[in-house]
Amino acid sequence: MRVRLRCVNCGAEYDVSYKMFMCPKCGQVLEVVFEPDELPPFEEYRRRSRMHGIWRFKELLPFKSKKPVTMGEGNTPLIRLEKLEKVIGIRRLYAKFEGANPTGSFKDRGMSLAVTIAKEVGARAVVAASTGNTAASAAAYSAKAGLKTFLVLPKGKVALGKLAQSILHGAVVVEIEDNFDAALEAVKILAKLEQFYPLNSFNPWRLEGQKTLAFEVFEDIGVPDYVIVPVGNAGNISAIWKGFKELKAFGYSQELPKMVGIQAEGASPLASAYKSGLKVPLFTDNPETIATAIRIGKPVNWLKAWKAVDESGGTFEAVPDSEIIRAQRMLAREEGIAAEPAGATSLAGLIKLASQGYFNGDEEVVIVVTGHGLKDPDSAKFHPTERIRALNVEDAVEKVVSHLGIVVKT
Ligand SMILES: Cc1ncc(COP(=O)(O)O)c(C=O)c1O
Ligand SMILES: [Zn+2]
Repeated sequence: MRVRLRCVNCGAEYDVSYKMFMCPKCGQVLEVVFEPDELPPFEEYRRRSRMHGIWRFKELLPFKSKKPVTMGEGNTPLIRLEKLEKVIGIRRLYAKFEGANPTGSFKDRGMSLAVTIAKEVGARAVVAASTGNTAASAAAYSAKAGLKTFLVLPKGKVALGKLAQSILHGAVVVEIEDNFDAALEAVKILAKLEQFYPLNSFNPWRLEGQKTLAFEVFEDIGVPDYVIVPVGNAGNISAIWKGFKELKAFGYSQELPKMVGIQAEGASPLASAYKSGLKVPLFTDNPETIATAIRIGKPVNWLKAWKAVDESGGTFEAVPDSEIIRAQRMLAREEGIAAEPAGATSLAGLIKLASQGYFNGDEEVVIVVTGHGLKDPDSAKFHPTERIRALNVEDAVEKVVSHLGIVVKT
């Protein structure tokens, strides 16, 4: 296997380093490029135990480990959305439910690889900035690896479930009186110190774990026409695209999907620039959205995501918070899938694009539902609920039967 790093902007190539994250020539993010050894037939990956997590695809990962830090991450269900596909007018619609990962988000795929590297290079501690899910995942995987964890979080802007996870797993939580973008700047500085290993998505090795989502979709249904992904720091959409490109480059598949990135309107530096025909993002200093996981104004991986959308022939779209909440309700109440608000933005984006005639109706579409509804219990307050107070057993029984409008004969 030959592995090297390449700058996504100027194309400069570098020998493997686990501590080089930005191109020394131009300052942009790097990607891992690798030529694998002989690959097995794709069926072989399926035969391997799902307990191996992303390492089931070890020949397609650029880092070899005898003792990976894994909790069986990935292997998440691809759920057919039979009701929603009819309402929206799509031939086949699936949700890749990343909430089913060990800590409840897609981050676990990347964390398994990045924490394995942190351990094997002898880091003393790991560090991550986070809107919440990276924190929860980093805390859990680093606890398993026996590494000290520092998390830099925007104060008051992290959903309750994610904060609880970080505390439960014993991480040191640094709450910064600023937003995620500032937290990330702090991590970039700490990452320069030898003792710290950064677990954010500017670390290209983490994204190598996240690309396995593409392998699993391919395993289940082949290559879909569209993959729709919520976008914050823009790492995940780039990773998934890289996964599909590698499947083709290595001879497993013949096609590529179109990649569609969805942002919240109040935090849409990529979508607003793309739709205005610009070639660079419109960074914002004050991102705001109910979908706190994607409340990011300066996505570090913007160039990778831009290329994913451009090369694949997809698009970016932005959706208002009201549509995100509506999509969250539809997933929960029509299909039984509990998504946190950011996780439901992919559905909100799909609905918006469909209403604009973007699809012809004959497509196969996968929406990535990136995080579990339990992560953000406060978001339940945006949904109508029927709550009945009962004083005792008889009262409870009577109120339930009368609510259904039936008469019970005694
Ligand atoms: C639930 C959820 N969805 C989407 C995203 C955005 O992913 P990325 O930052 O890779 O674009 C995040 C990132 O924190 C997230 O937690
Ligand atoms: Zn460069």
